[in-house]
This record gives sequence, C-alpha cells and structure tokens, in this order.
Amino acid sequence: MGRAFVYVIIGGGVAAGYAALEFTKRGVSQGELCIISEESVVPYERPALSKGFLLPEAPARLPSFHTCVGANEERLTPKWYKEHGIELVLGTRVKSADVKRKTLLTATGETISYKILIVATGARALKLEEFGLSGSDAANVCYLRDVADATRLVDVMQSCTGGNAVVIGGGYIGMECAASLVINKINVTMVFPEAHCMARLFTPKIASYYEDFYTAKGVKFIKGTVLSSFDMNSNGKVTAVNLRDGNHLSADMVVVGIGIRPNTALFEGQLTLDKGGIKVNGRMQTSNSSVYAVGDVAAFPVKLFGESRRLEHVDSARKSAKHAVAAIMEPEKTDEFDYLPFFYSRVFTLSWQFYGDGVGEIVHFGDFSGTTFGAYWVSKGHLVGSFLEGGTKEQYEALSKVTRLKPAIEDVAELQRQGLGFALLV
Ligand code: FDA
Ligand code: NAD
Repeated sequence: MGRAFVYVIIGGGVAAGYAALEFTKRGVSQGELCIISEESVVPYERPALSKGFLLPEAPARLPSFHTCVGANEERLTPKWYKEHGIELVLGTRVKSADVKRKTLLTATGETISYKILIVATGARALKLEEFGLSGSDAANVCYLRDVADATRLVDVMQSCTGGNAVVIGGGYIGMECAASLVINKINVTMVFPEAHCMARLFTPKIASYYEDFYTAKGVKFIKGTVLSSFDMNSNGKVTAVNLRDGNHLSADMVVVGIGIRPNTALFEGQLTLDKGGIKVNGRMQTSNSSVYAVGDVAAFPVKLFGESRRLEHVDSARKSAKHAVAAIMEPEKTDEFDYLPFFYSRVFTLSWQFYGDGVGEIVHFGDFSGTTFGAYWVSKGHLVGSFLEGGTKEQYEALSKVTRLKPAIEDVAELQRQGLGFALLV
C-alpha cells in the first residue's frame, strides 16, 4: 500500500523550496503536494554552507537560512509546510522510480504515486575513489554538499586551529572553503591540476588577481598536479598528502572539492539524458510529459545561446523550479524559459558576479591593482558574457542588462576603452 499525490517533488534542496513556494502562490490545494528528501531538514539555501555557516563568529545556522530567504522571499519552516498542507517525507531516499506506472519506491519501502513529478535531485560531490584514489573515509577528510557535511567540516576545522589544511580542487568549493579556513586561523595549501584557479570560468588575468589576494592571506598554491596518496596514522587520520609531482605536505585536515555528478541514476533508461543531466524542454518537461526536472540535474535550452546547458548554480535552481511550477499549473500562460545564466561568489572582502557565457574573445577592463575590474566575452561579433569584481548594485544590474541584450561589438578596442562605461550606457 502507499500514498498518492497530484504533485511530487523528489529532492529537498534549493529547487524544491522555491517550487513549493511557487505552488502555494499558484493555489495548490492542501494534501496535493509531497516533497521526498534524503536530507532530514526542510529545504535551505545551500550557498550558505561554504560561507556564513563556516564563520568562526556568529555563524549561520538553520533555521535562519531555509529557502526562500536567499531571494528575499518568505522563510519556509516546517510549520509553513504544515500550514500549507504540504506533505514532507524527510530523511528518506527514493530508491527507484517507474515513470510508466508513475510510482516511486522509497528506502523505507513505501510506494508513492504521482500525477506530475518534479525531479529536483541536484548533484553529489565526486569522491576521490572515482579518480582511482582512496582515503575519503578518513576522519579528517571533508567534502561539502549538505548540512551534514558542513557540520562535520566545522567540527574538524575547530579541532585544527593553527594547523595545516590541504584543499584539493581549485573550483568553487576549493576557493570558498580555503577562504573560510583562513578566517578560522588554519594554514591552507591549495592543490589543483590546472594552471590557475577557477579554470572553468576565470581568465588567467582574473585568476591571478584572486590568487595574489589569497597569497597575501597566507594561502599557498600548488598548481598543475594532483593528489597521489595520503599518509595515515593508526587512528585513521590523514597526516600528510603526497602529490604526483613529488610534493609531501603535512596535513591536519583535507577538504576535497573536485566537482559533482548530477543525481540522474533513478531515471537512466527511462528519461532522455543530456549534458550529464536530464534533458528538458523550455517548460522544464522531460521526455516523459508527466515528469519535469529542475536545478542542477536539468539540462535545459538556454534561448540566448541557442543550445542546451546544465548549470550548477543557485539562481538557475530557483528560477527553473519556479518556471516548472508555472508551466504545470498555468500552461497556457507560461512561455518557454528564457534564462540569462548568472553565477556569483563571495570570499573574504571580495565579491564577483558573472552573466551569460564565457566564450570567445576576452576584453578585460578596470583596475586590476585596485578593487573594481572585470571582463567581457565577445563571440561572433556580439557581447555574450560579462564579469565584475567589486561592483555596486547598479553596476551589476547594468551588466546583467547589457549581457541579455547581446549587443553587436564592431570595435573590441573601443569596448576595452569604455570598459564598465559601455554597460552603464546601454
Ligand atoms: P540541491 O543539491 O540543492 O538539492 C538536491 C536534493 O535532492 C537534496 O536535498 C538531496 O538530498 C535530494 N536527493 C537527491 N537524490 C535523492 C533521492 N534519490 N531521494 C530523495 N532525495 C534525494 N551556487 C551559486 O550560484 N552561488 C553560490 O554561492 C553557491 N554556493 C554553494 C556552496 C556549496 C557548499 C554548494 C554545495 C553549492 C553551492 N552553490 C552555489 C550551488 C547551488 O547550491 C546549487 O546549484 C543548488 O543547490 C542546486 O539546487 P538543486 O535543488 O538542484 O539541488
Ligand atoms: P568545480 O567544478 O567548480 O571545480 C572542480 C575542481 O576540481 C576543478 O577546478 C579542478 O581544480 C579540480 N579537480 C578536478 N579533477 C581533479 C583531480 N583529479 N584532482 C584534484 N583536483 C581536481 O566543482 P566544486 O568546486 O567541487 O564545486 C561543486 C559544486 O558546487 C559545483 O556545482 C559548483 O558550481 C557548486 N558551488 C558553487 C558555488 C558558487 O557558485 N559560488 C560555490 C560552491 C559550490
């Protein structure tokens, strides 16, 4: 026996929280919606985990950052879900899905059926073992994806004050955790295979600004190499990190941020996949018309680029979730999703935003020895991407607006000369 709902969301992360709010705004009835999540807490703003949550003083803790506070909307507590008649099945993994029968089987043995399903399963952190290494289980090796990981990271960090941390990976997790470790008075060495940090997005010139800033904070960078093994003590703790280039780094703790994999396993062989995620159309609908996918797990058409993308960022999770609910509840009134990719990060006193697509010719602007600088990307004669560090609200808004317009750029030298002024004039 099991329960039946009109709408079911698998996953209780960022996208699920924003979808729930949108359902209530569009008049979902009591008892129609169910959220099943492996996590034991209601949806929260995941970006807090590598920032406010890791602060040594006045750290952010739940319930302060439940969705949807990150978009200045209501904070949805367990009480809110109860008042709105939304069924929460927390701490429960969906073990299998049958999209033909429209049923889900949970790890507790319950069968839950739906009329419409939203897949919001996000992604999982890649493990060292997937690169042929071992040591993920060591007591002082930390990953960071959910609040349980973040709680563990805080515990390990607090036992290492004044000690040495090795951060494996030079992406978002590596950069944000390295900054938090420094703020917690831990000596940090970052190790990554690329020639510079944030290689998926930053230009070498942008990366060198952040690397210099981190270096001034005491962070050491070892680039162009990867981990080869850990030295362990008899308590199962890592004591040193051995690198492929022969370096041997003594370590009191290790943080690993080497990318993610979308959680698609439930649907492989049942739904069409794309870009490592679940393929959806402009209504966030998968190859099965009763199943929608949103957030990190969804590969959706980005109208502006004329191709599909799978984005791993919070703004896209929020907006794709809202769009799916609009398409489900008011199909005639809902157009195709028209999304401008938006990424951001904050570390130390720094803060940047990026809009659009980082492809084509790069045009840097601003003062790279000061606090405000950026870049445009120009592809096929049009401005397609923009980046700004240290901007004001108005400057970021201008950047977002100009990038969405994709203006023709005839003279790249002139764009460089105008710099941020170009965006402010449009
Ligand atoms: P999300 O991962 O939030 O949620 C997925 C949910 O599904 C989880 O609750 C999971 O337990 C559940 N689930 C998975 N499989 C399941 C199953 N079989 N059964 C039941 N439940 C299941 N982005 C950004 O733009 N700016 C930022 O500053 C940051 N910062 C940041 C920090 C950290 C530490 C992380 C890990 C990530 C970020 N991000 C970010 C990325 C951003 O958080 C991410 O893009 C969104 O959380 C994606 O939202 P989703 O809802 O798609 O997945
Ligand atoms: P990432 O893709 O940003 O970076 C992965 C990094 O792993 C690469 O830059 C590379 O340096 C490193 N790497 C790859 N293979 C390696 C290997 N074999 N050995 C050592 N290093 C290796 O992924 P992440 O930093 O793990 O972040 C996880 C997810 O969380 C991403 O989806 C990211 O978008 C999200 N996130 C976003 C933000 C933000 O938007 N501000 C902040 C934190 C996390």
